[in-house]
Amino acid sequence: MQASVPIPAIVILISGRGSNMRSIIKAIQNDKLSVKVAAVISNRPDAAGLKFAQQENITTAVIDHTQFASRALFDQALAQEIDHYSPDLVILAGFMRILTSDFVHHFSGKLINIHPSLLPKFKGLNTHQRAIDAGEKEHGASVHFVTPELDDGPVVLQAYVPILKDDTANILAARVLEQEHKLYPNAIKQLLAPKTNNKP
Ligand code: GRF
Repeated sequence: MQASVPIPAIVILISGRGSNMRSIIKAIQNDKLSVKVAAVISNRPDAAGLKFAQQENITTAVIDHTQFASRALFDQALAQEIDHYSPDLVILAGFMRILTSDFVHHFSGKLINIHPSLLPKFKGLNTHQRAIDAGEKEHGASVHFVTPELDDGPVVLQAYVPILKDDTANILAARVLEQEHKLYPNAIKQLLAPKTNNKP
């Protein structure tokens, strides 16, 4: 008989619509991912993704960055809230805040992000337009560990999409997002495989 292993816990950080968060929750509900979402935390009280999480009976919290005098104080409050859930992974899913290196080091090896480009190409914003302007034939998304340098940490998994002749940034973004929604649950599964009875 296989020994039962506790289900790993994740905390998801969002700032907006939370479609990647939804794809992770859906993967759990469809038995494609064996983890527990201990909490969804937003830095914005009006993040649309919070409502969805609440409807799914997931614990939510808001740490509003506008209420803190400095980035360091906000990050300390955020880290304290996350620590409360003792997560195995902290998942940045459209979390639009630059994090201090103290925060990043505190969650070292547990903090991952999804970025809409084939890293190390196109770090930062407007990745889809920049990929089109650069004449790239291929674009995509990357799940990577977070390090103090923006969009710079080791890549866990990538998804590729072609760039087509008449693509606009919006058309390309939609094609990439569709892949992101498969990529993130797969990357989480891969990273947590040693802690579960599941194969990656
Ligand atoms: C995604 O494109 C993700 O790659 C980037 O921010 C966007 C978040 O979208 N980091 P959503 O909030 O998950 O819908």
